[in-house]
Amino acid sequence: MTQRNIRFIDLPAQQQRIRAAIDKRIQKVLDHGQYIMGPEVAELEKGLAEYAGTKHALVCASGTDALLMALMAYGVKAGDAVITTAFTFIATAEVISLLGATPVFVDIDPKTYNIDPKLVPAAIDKAEKMGLRPRGIIPVDLFGLPADFDMLTAIAQQHQLFILDDACQGFGGMYIGKRIGGLGGICATSFFPAKPLGCYGDGGAVFTNNDRLADIMASIRIHGKGTDQYDNIRIGINGRLDTIQCAILLEKLAIFEEEILKRQEIAAAYTERLKGAVTTPHIPQGLRSAWAQYSVLHDRRDAIIAALKAEGIPAMVYYPKPLHLQTAFADLGYKQGDLPVCESVSKKVFSLPMHPYLAKDDIDYIASAVIRAAK
Ligand SMILES: Cc1ncc(COP(=O)(O)O)c(C=O)c1O
Repeated sequence: MTQRNIRFIDLPAQQQRIRAAIDKRIQKVLDHGQYIMGPEVAELEKGLAEYAGTKHALVCASGTDALLMALMAYGVKAGDAVITTAFTFIATAEVISLLGATPVFVDIDPKTYNIDPKLVPAAIDKAEKMGLRPRGIIPVDLFGLPADFDMLTAIAQQHQLFILDDACQGFGGMYIGKRIGGLGGICATSFFPAKPLGCYGDGGAVFTNNDRLADIMASIRIHGKGTDQYDNIRIGINGRLDTIQCAILLEKLAIFEEEILKRQEIAAAYTERLKGAVTTPHIPQGLRSAWAQYSVLHDRRDAIIAALKAEGIPAMVYYPKPLHLQTAFADLGYKQGDLPVCESVSKKVFSLPMHPYLAKDDIDYIASAVIRAAK
């Protein structure tokens, strides 16, 4: 086979398909000139809430701001503990620390790589022994796969904790007949360009069915506004999403479900080809991944990535270092060996090219290269 140049995520292919519609949408914004909180913002929020099946959707400046606004709405502060997975992007826990609260890291399920709910009660105990008030749990829908919401909800109810779903990778996923969005008290997602639903810059959104939390987050998003932005009733942030980004997202949302279905086909084709050669993703019964990433495990990960690179195939490592071992969290006192499952997975995991426009023969080309390198 001749060498190919595979893209990890093919945004140009998607753009080619909807470029004319996006151009028209942007033109409209340039014509009306309402660059901040223009009509496309409310139009997108309506479409997102409909898609997610939630009462409210509020767009904001990034996934990180979405998580921050949610924690601020719950009133998280110094002395509070928030329980989360150590196997995620820094932003999940960064927002806890930003508010002066303490992240308590939990290990992952060895099959799904999501927070292991069985370990959450011990984390609640640990937080209490440290003299902290356990306030909530942030599960992450890692690589697009929804976390174990049944078990997490039972634990959260028992201990009166909130659930903030970090769906920055999971939007578009499904949990036993329900779309990601309404599974916790608040759900946060990211529209970073490489996400399954991405804009052309930074962006994010929060989802909730709770009117009070939606009101508070709408206020926090615009500097804690009351009746208007010069009436400030709480400390907030500048967390708005530009009208132009909303205009772009409206066209991307229109094809999103179709793209998510394409991702299912591509993931299934990968798994069919790769099972036996590497550890392929495990999707529990009744769940749909948004397939933000197609991630596999192998003991010789680095050698395989090098071999793939030589064949024009990019592969990425999400994540090489779990959060409890990051320098930024050194003062929390975790050490190597504290969370063995995610430490082991972080040494073996790598992600293959994944996007809805990946051609069948490219999947064959990638899978053949992985199988050869993994032997
Ligand atoms: C799990 C997770 N949480 C939070 C974020 C933060 O999102 P953003 O980059 O839009 O701030 C990301 C994405 O980068 C993510 O993957």
